[in-house]
Amino acid sequence: MPASIEIVLTDITTLAVDAIVNAANNTLLGGGGVDGAIHRAAGPLLLQECTTLHGCETGDAKITQGYKLPARHVIHTVGPVWHGGGKGEAELLKSSYHRCFEVAQQHGIKSIAFPAISAGVYGYPMHEAAAIALSSVNPAVEMNPQLERIIFALFSMEARQIYLETAKRAGITCK
Ligand code: APR
Repeated sequence: MPASIEIVLTDITTLAVDAIVNAANNTLLGGGGVDGAIHRAAGPLLLQECTTLHGCETGDAKITQGYKLPARHVIHTVGPVWHGGGKGEAELLKSSYHRCFEVAQQHGIKSIAFPAISAGVYGYPMHEAAAIALSSVNPAVEMNPQLERIIFALFSMEARQIYLETAKRAGITCK
């Protein structure tokens, strides 16, 4: 059964899935945006575990427990800061999605939810960020047939609309 792809307007911290993805920074010690929301909802034990990970390279991903979150795990990734597109930002963002799916496979994760990585404080243009997010889907499903649900959890109607239009252009059928 191929994985279902869902594009929803929601607070990612409310999702009861195997893993939610955190758009973190290189320290993994928390921050604002979705990073702040996830740490607030998970409670202090999340930060305690994050301190044992000794940071995360941009484009890489590391996994922790979810603690007080309804999600079992958090996969922390660090997307690139947007510098206009000439500093390898697209490759780094693709790497973030790829590494999240790799870590998910290594941990038998069947349902995973992503925020719009780098499209907030890090300034990545939403259209381009959405195109990279959605282009990661087919390779991920091929790599990991266990995947049952891939959710893109957007935080604004505008972002959701951009993802829906991008998915349609890419021929990706969404639930
Ligand atoms: N649920 C889903 N999406 C959310 C939530 C939430 N609770 N809160 C924010 N978002 C959305 C933002 O609206 C944006 O579209 O997540 C997307 C990513 O925005 P940021 O959280 O700012 O992440 P990013 O752009 O990757 O910047 C990362 O911000 O918070 C700091 O510590 C973090 O330094 C890191 C940087």
